[in-house]
Amino acid sequence: MSKTVLITGASTGIGRSTAILFAEKGWNVIATMRNPEKANFSSDKIHVLPLDVTNSDSIHTAIAKSLEFGKIDVLVNNAGYGLMGAFENCSPAQIQRQFDTNVFGLMEVTRALLPHFRESRSGVIINVASIGGKMSFPTYSLYNSTKWAVEGFSEGLQYELEQFNIRVKLIEPGPIKTDFYDRSPEIATSDLKVYDEYVNKIIPKMNQAGEKAPAPEVVAKTIYKAATDPSRRLRYPADPGAWTAVILRKLLPSHIFSTIIRSNFH
Ligand SMILES: NC(=O)c1ccc[n+]([C@@H]2O[C@H](COP(=O)([O-])OP(=O)(O)OC[C@H]3O[C@@H](n4cnc5c(N)ncnc54)[C@H](OP(=O)(O)O)[C@@H]3O)[C@@H](O)[C@H]2O)c1
Repeated sequence: MSKTVLITGASTGIGRSTAILFAEKGWNVIATMRNPEKANFSSDKIHVLPLDVTNSDSIHTAIAKSLEFGKIDVLVNNAGYGLMGAFENCSPAQIQRQFDTNVFGLMEVTRALLPHFRESRSGVIINVASIGGKMSFPTYSLYNSTKWAVEGFSEGLQYELEQFNIRVKLIEPGPIKTDFYDRSPEIATSDLKVYDEYVNKIIPKMNQAGEKAPAPEVVAKTIYKAATDPSRRLRYPADPGAWTAVILRKLLPSHIFSTIIRSNFH
């Protein structure tokens, strides 16, 4: 019998590529997104449902509808975006929205599906983090802190879920060419102009990294690998750039690593 995966943020980028790959592999896919009218899939294995990860009702309605199709085997918590700019230029509401989406939304979707996974004594929770969950970049302090939170949450969660045969996986992409850099980000601006020169120098460099980056299909493959890996492995750097960054971070003293970041972006 075909397995079923539920994906958040499947309208574009990594989520969309993941939906297509799982369908090609014969899985039933529940591709959730804020605006289902944006869905653009040709496979009849893909079912589209509305789900906004910042809206509790929307989460619970989507999960209840999904369970009408039958057992869910894998959850891919992919929805997310970047709040970029200087910390002082971000309003408390922007910071709240960043954490509501990337952290609390991911937690609430996970919590909504956990009773089903516990009862079926199986399940895989795949959280799309980032290399920016193990290191931080200029103008990305808030986005990166959400991904550090996802890393810490997932690492702790894996232990308590082992007894129910539920595995937790972290996907760590480096820069990937998606809407992440142009349509999706929120750029922090305020009346405080003292950071403008700095931010205007750095953000184009960060965007250039996205321009030259691999396509989202490479991350979809890593997500598929994690979904079908029966081991307890937690972390999956998603692409060659991510592997390099993660290894350098592990091997180099922190101050040398920061010097490399400065020399690339300052
Ligand atoms: N691209 C990169 O370089 C990169 C690197 C590391 C990690 N990531 C992570 O990968 C994930 C996917 O990003 P992407 O690169 O594929 O960018 P993307 O093309 O912008 O996709 C982001 C997806 O998240 C959705 N989303 C945003 N807020 C949402 C909400 N409140 N509820 C439900 N869905 C929401 C977007 O929906 P709408 O279409 O409605 O906006 C879109 O489907 C994110 O978690 C991102 O942080 C990306």
